Amino acid sequence: MERLFQVAIDGPAAAGKSTVAKIAAKTLGFVYIDTGAMYRSLTYKALMTGTDINDGHQLKQLLDQTEIELVQEGNGQKVYVDGTDVTDRIRYPDVSEHVSLVSSFEEVRMEMVSRQRKLAASCSVVMDGRDIGTHVLPKAQVKIFLIASVDERAIRRYKEEELKGRHPSIESLREAIALRDKKDMEREVSPLVKAEDAIALDTTSLSIEEVVKKILQLVKEKQLS
Ligand code: DC
Repeated sequence: MERLFQVAIDGPAAAGKSTVAKIAAKTLGFVYIDTGAMYRSLTYKALMTGTDINDGHQLKQLLDQTEIELVQEGNGQKVYVDGTDVTDRIRYPDVSEHVSLVSSFEEVRMEMVSRQRKLAASCSVVMDGRDIGTHVLPKAQVKIFLIASVDERAIRRYKEEELKGRHPSIESLREAIALRDKKDMEREVSPLVKAEDAIALDTTSLSIEEVVKKILQLVKEKQLS
């Protein structure tokens, strides 16, 4: 049987992980798994059902009754919660604001990690998130840690929002990104941290193509070794 290959891409909010992960996965013929979308899906459902998002046990019970599907469609990936397409909805500010809290509970993380490992068990993957190289796929053959300045990330997020017809202030995006970084780095369970064996890439002054090229090169080197 062909050896399964795992590429782990971690880094802070809006560092460009999903953009490069999607292109790299498509080029390599691997499956792209957006783990942030899974935490966002649970956050969305918790907000919709009035679940207490300060209570990890309630969130875990909710997660046990929640089906989250990541479906590859065309160039993108659609996210379904219990059969409903929530791809755009889970990027709205209410979800972004609360997702760090929802993802901080150990019970929630254990179940998410178990689902993520199952997804990676049968096919080669490019998986992006915060704890992929350190925890979810510690044996990933290629581990990347993407970083970019907060200013650059706020500008990139603004451009994404603009394409969707929304015009938030860059300053509000900057603040939201910095706050989310802080929460993701300071949480007790699986905080955002670079794996020792991950390669750090600062994307502030690199184009998407350059980052993808570097990742593909690293994969090729490992496949040949
Ligand atoms: O990648 P993203 O911005 O869509 O992720 C949303 C949130 O989910 C992020 O603030 C932290 C959390 N997350 C996590 O804790 N672990 C992951 N593997 C992926 C995301």
